[in-house]
Amino acid sequence: MSRLKALFVLSFIQTMILVHGQLQSKGYLEDKEFTIQEEGRSSLIYQFLPRKLTSKTFILDGETDGVIEVLPHDGWLQTKGPLDWEKRKVHKLTIRTLNETGITEEGPFSITIIVEDINDNRPVFNQSEYKGEVREKYRPGRPFVRVYATDADDPSTPNAQLSYSILQQIPDSNPKYFQINNITGDISVTWNGSQLLTVGKDYNLIVQVSDSAEHHFSNTVMVKITIKENIWVAPPPITINENSTEPHPMKITQVRWNDDEALYELHQRDRYPRFPFSIDAIGDIYVSEPLDREERSQYIFYAIAKSRNGLFASSPLTIEVNVEDINDNPPVCPALITIFEVQENEGIGSTVGEFQASDADEEGSFNTLLVYRILEQIPTIPFNNVFSLNEFTGQLQLQRSTLNVEEVDEYILKVEVSDSGRPTSLKTICTIQVNVIDINDNIPIFEKSEYGNVTIKEDTQLQTVVMEIQATDDDQPNTGSSLIIYEIKEGDPHKMFIIETERETNRGYVKIAKPLDFETMQEHRLVIHATNPEPLVAGVAYNDSSITRFTVFVMDVDEKPYFNETLYQKQVKEDVPVGTKIATITAIDPEGDSIRFSLQGDTRNWLRIDEYTGEMFTKALLDRETESHYRVTVIASEKTNPRMSASVLFNLFLEDVNDNPPRLAKSYFGTYFCHPVTKPESVVIEATDPDAQRLTPFKFSLTPDEKDWVIVRLNRTHAKLTMAHSQFEMKNYDITVIINDQGIPPLESEVHIPVSICSCTSKNECEASPVESLGLPSIGMALGILFGTLAVIGVIIAAVFISINHKKKKEGKADGADAMNTGEIRPLSS
Ligand SMILES: *[C@@H]1O[C@H](CO)[C@@H](O)[C@H](O)[C@H]1NC(C)=O
Ligand SMILES: *[C@@H]1O[C@H](CO)[C@@H](O)[C@H](O)[C@H]1NC(C)=O
Ligand SMILES: *[C@@H]1O[C@H](CO)[C@@H](O)[C@H](O)[C@H]1NC(C)=O
Ligand SMILES: *[C@@H]1O[C@H](CO)[C@@H](O)[C@H](O)[C@H]1NC(C)=O
Ligand SMILES: *[C@@H]1O[C@H](CO)[C@@H](O)[C@H](O)[C@H]1NC(C)=O
Ligand SMILES: *[C@@H]1O[C@H](CO)[C@@H](O)[C@H](O)[C@H]1NC(C)=O
Ligand SMILES: *[C@@H]1O[C@H](CO)[C@@H](O)[C@H](O)[C@H]1NC(C)=O
Ligand SMILES: *[C@@H]1O[C@H](CO)[C@@H](O)[C@H](O)[C@H]1NC(C)=O
Ligand SMILES: *[C@@H]1O[C@H](CO)[C@@H](O)[C@H](O)[C@H]1NC(C)=O
Repeated sequence: MSRLKALFVLSFIQTMILVHGQLQSKGYLEDKEFTIQEEGRSSLIYQFLPRKLTSKTFILDGETDGVIEVLPHDGWLQTKGPLDWEKRKVHKLTIRTLNETGITEEGPFSITIIVEDINDNRPVFNQSEYKGEVREKYRPGRPFVRVYATDADDPSTPNAQLSYSILQQIPDSNPKYFQINNITGDISVTWNGSQLLTVGKDYNLIVQVSDSAEHHFSNTVMVKITIKENIWVAPPPITINENSTEPHPMKITQVRWNDDEALYELHQRDRYPRFPFSIDAIGDIYVSEPLDREERSQYIFYAIAKSRNGLFASSPLTIEVNVEDINDNPPVCPALITIFEVQENEGIGSTVGEFQASDADEEGSFNTLLVYRILEQIPTIPFNNVFSLNEFTGQLQLQRSTLNVEEVDEYILKVEVSDSGRPTSLKTICTIQVNVIDINDNIPIFEKSEYGNVTIKEDTQLQTVVMEIQATDDDQPNTGSSLIIYEIKEGDPHKMFIIETERETNRGYVKIAKPLDFETMQEHRLVIHATNPEPLVAGVAYNDSSITRFTVFVMDVDEKPYFNETLYQKQVKEDVPVGTKIATITAIDPEGDSIRFSLQGDTRNWLRIDEYTGEMFTKALLDRETESHYRVTVIASEKTNPRMSASVLFNLFLEDVNDNPPRLAKSYFGTYFCHPVTKPESVVIEATDPDAQRLTPFKFSLTPDEKDWVIVRLNRTHAKLTMAHSQFEMKNYDITVIINDQGIPPLESEVHIPVSICSCTSKNECEASPVESLGLPSIGMALGILFGTLAVIGVIIAAVFISINHKKKKEGKADGADAMNTGEIRPLSS
């Protein structure tokens, strides 16, 4: 027992001493440090022994807090009651001894007592209840309320490491709507909460905090959560007046993200040439300049809110801005001067013309409702108000008097056009010129009533003039009475011809408007009428002198044959037998000549066309993997005139047939593993084949006698070859893998994976790399070669020796050499 105590003293005497319960020890006076757990019952800590016999009493000074003392006579340092870590973490004390007369004999020595925390405090929330507010559609994971608890224990120990959790959600939901960060106490909504929380439905959470000690304390608190409405909603459509005089930029609407930490942006829906809108940091939307309805009457764009890290906070809101029309466009005259013609003999009430101005403002509104009024008539001969202008329709009519071209041949009317815009109507003054023209009392007369025959080739170019015709009119020049309109009345039902007229001379040019075709119509008997735009006066009528005729004969030309389709294409399986008919090409000669077919560009010699029938056959085996889209040109030429020929492209698409066996995608030569094999190693191999039907996965298998390896398919193309055990010798293995492409029909092939098991260097590389060991001779082989060479030399020497011997013997004895020969050589050469 005393030996044990001595051991304790020895091992602890110089070191820090942990006093757990009843462990005690002692030693001579010196500076000492102790660590003592708080909360312990009173206990002896350490017995100090004086070095001098004269030391009689021990004295303890310093931060004893009334619980640490030293027994004055035997030097025992002890606690009288529990230490409290929360009150004092370190006690700094000194110890000394006094001699009999009360004079300090030894010391003072310093004593440090470190108090060790034990988990004696439960965590405490800093509020008795927490309140949080969160909006509908709030971003999941973004904290909106935080609970906070403290623990008086040592923060460096698990005793004060707190973890939060939600004990209960009231009312409950599955999945939960709220979550808490177990370290920070931040409460946020879950994804479901973000979607499903609705205003008016509030929640309470019971949140628990626990420390992390083995026997942990915990505490709970109530968190009351109010759900508020989502304010991220699109504002109603905005209407703004165009050409606004308000100061710009002008706020037109606003959007608000549910929390203030969003970055707002506007995005255009359509690419407007000008986008005069902006959004500021708080979500107010501005228009930067006055808008013009006539440029664009509606703008639709999106407002988006992004979080600081650039993620979209929610879906974008659609902003609709309508631009309200204001009457900012005056009416516009149709021309600088609008010219009408009127014949001098026309009666009162006849229409001179329709006058129509325009206005760019909103159609159908008062801003574009135009009102016409004649302001002035120049000259006022024979008097004012010769014309009347309908206020709304703009119809100009003769109102009073007939006209006399000798008196006035031109009137100028100043017309006021006003829109009915409110509050201000806009006005424009326009000018109408009315030309009074001579009466149309002459009909156009053709110079010839018959222009004869004209013959043209059917391939004559369009717009070619076929005939020039001329009629004349004796009425006032440059008026509607003398202007001539030519019309083909007969002989051209398909409008193959048009007539263009020269304004000044009234000369008509008959031109080809559509391609002529001898085979459809060989003769066009044209009957042409000449008329005036102005009506004829009563008593005068068009007669035969206003009609002319001529005949166009279409001349046949030898045209090229043509194909009945502009492009031919066919799809066949690549494995069709040689000689399969794949298509029939049809070509027609307009003149009915027979056709001869031939091919051009059949670079692979795959096809043949029947010269007479146009039937196309295969001439060889096709191969999609060589060319999947084969193009050749078919030539069709006339039999009698082979120079007349046409060509067309023939496209042949080859459909895949499983005709390629699978193979390895690359070489696995050089695969090695270090000997000894410690764990099952594996090689991933990849199969491929050029067929297009690569939708079915390859099937990988091993030969039945393969016991060393197993194979497992990874995906459609890859498989993993794994060792079945680890007893591999140091040599080259050749693994036979069977790959089946599972196509239709299935094709299978055997491939070989060379794997070398070798002894390795420290870098895990083969000592002699497997590649080299196959190419260069090994030591064994080298020896073999050496011995082989020696053997050959030996044979030669032996042969020479024997032959000399033989000669010698021959000299003496001619027979018996053959038997000796073989008998001598055998042992040497083996
Ligand atoms: C105690 O120590 C003091 C100072 O060293 C000395 O004067 C005194 O005699 C001592 N008392 C005894 C009883 O030795
Ligand atoms: C509780 O602690 C948090 C975090 O330190 C603090 O923001 C909050 O004001 C505290 N509450 C009270 C009532 O002290
Ligand atoms: C706190 O949460 C994290 C992440 O959710 C988790 O890995 C960890 O285990 C949790 N800690 C405690 C004490 O629950
Ligand atoms: C709730 O969340 C789960 C995944 O946690 C999801 O599958 C489910 O669709 C969500 N329900 C609603 C209504 O958003
Ligand atoms: C805008 O209004 C002013 C008068 O207020 C006008 O002079 C101007 O032409 C208008 N601009 C457009 C583009 O309509
Ligand atoms: C035009 O051709 C027709 C028919 O061939 C013929 O009868 C007529 O005489 C020809 N006219 C003239 C002017 O050559
Ligand atoms: C047609 O009328 C004009 C006068 O208007 C006359 O000169 C001409 O002879 C007439 N022609 C025929 C064919 O009647
Ligand atoms: C062209 O001729 C072939 C063979 O006579 C026929 O099958 C095909 O329908 C024809 N194509 C057209 C567009 O008429
Ligand atoms: C098949 O698996 C291999 C190996 O794991 C991989 O490299 C390859 O990308 C995979 N192929 C496909 C189509 O998933």
